Amino acid sequence: MHVVVNAATSVDGKLSTREREQVEISGSEDFDRVDRLRADSDAVMVGVGTVVADDPSLTVKDDRLREERRDRGDPPNPARVVADSQVRTPMDAAVLDDDAETYLLVSEAAPADFVDTMESAGATVLAAGQDRVDLSVAFARLAAERFDQLMVEGGGELIFSLFEEGLVDELSVFVGATVIGGRDAPTLADGEGFVGEFPELDLRSVERLDDGVVLSYDVRGAL
Ligand SMILES: NC(=O)c1ccc[n+]([C@@H]2O[C@H](COP(=O)([O-])OP(=O)(O)OC[C@H]3O[C@@H](n4cnc5c(N)ncnc54)[C@H](OP(=O)(O)O)[C@@H]3O)[C@@H](O)[C@H]2O)c1
Repeated sequence: MHVVVNAATSVDGKLSTREREQVEISGSEDFDRVDRLRADSDAVMVGVGTVVADDPSLTVKDDRLREERRDRGDPPNPARVVADSQVRTPMDAAVLDDDAETYLLVSEAAPADFVDTMESAGATVLAAGQDRVDLSVAFARLAAERFDQLMVEGGGELIFSLFEEGLVDELSVFVGATVIGGRDAPTLADGEGFVGEFPELDLRSVERLDDGVVLSYDVRGAL
């Protein structure tokens, strides 16, 4: 399964404010690029931190792109995937609506009654990992479900884990013309951070969109 991480950051690498409030970092040109990337993917993933902070729907917004998907025999929207070890996704979260399939990746420690509730809400629950989602195991299951391309839309905790596990193939970052600041504001890759060995990236392209740039990288050594 090909994994593409996409995010928008301020010049200082922040995804949002220290209060974890969404910031309009990009504009309409980047919005269209991201919508196209979603439409080209079989599934779109976020961590539960992003679900709780932003309540994204992760659906394709442009009617023509949804039509293109239908024309090639795909559902109008890609499936949605949430990494959520303990099932913290609220029942009224937009990712649980009827617009697309939803996969909840949970750990073995997820409370059984929460899992049942999510399944009755229509989500497919996949358990991998003892206390936290084992992303490598979970991704192997997603690949077996016919997903060839997975787009990851954040946030910083999830993106760090994906790099740590060597699961990222491509990274696209829109860097907007703003500074958010704040030592506690989420960044592109949070988690524990790397100390010795860092993921190496090959810069593939630099594109000017809106009042920012999109930096696209291939991850060196990715399969
Ligand atoms: N600018 C952008 O492009 C963009 C995009 C997305 C989000 N954001 C911002 O980013 C912030 C949210 O980011 P975040 O870092 O707090 O949350 P996140 O990365 O969306 O979600 C992190 C959570 O995912 C769960 N998780 C399950 N398995 C995991 C694993 N193996 N590795 C890592 N996490 C795992 C963990 O919760 P459990 O332990 O409970 O499972 C963890 O706390 C919000 O402020 C949002 O606005 C910005």
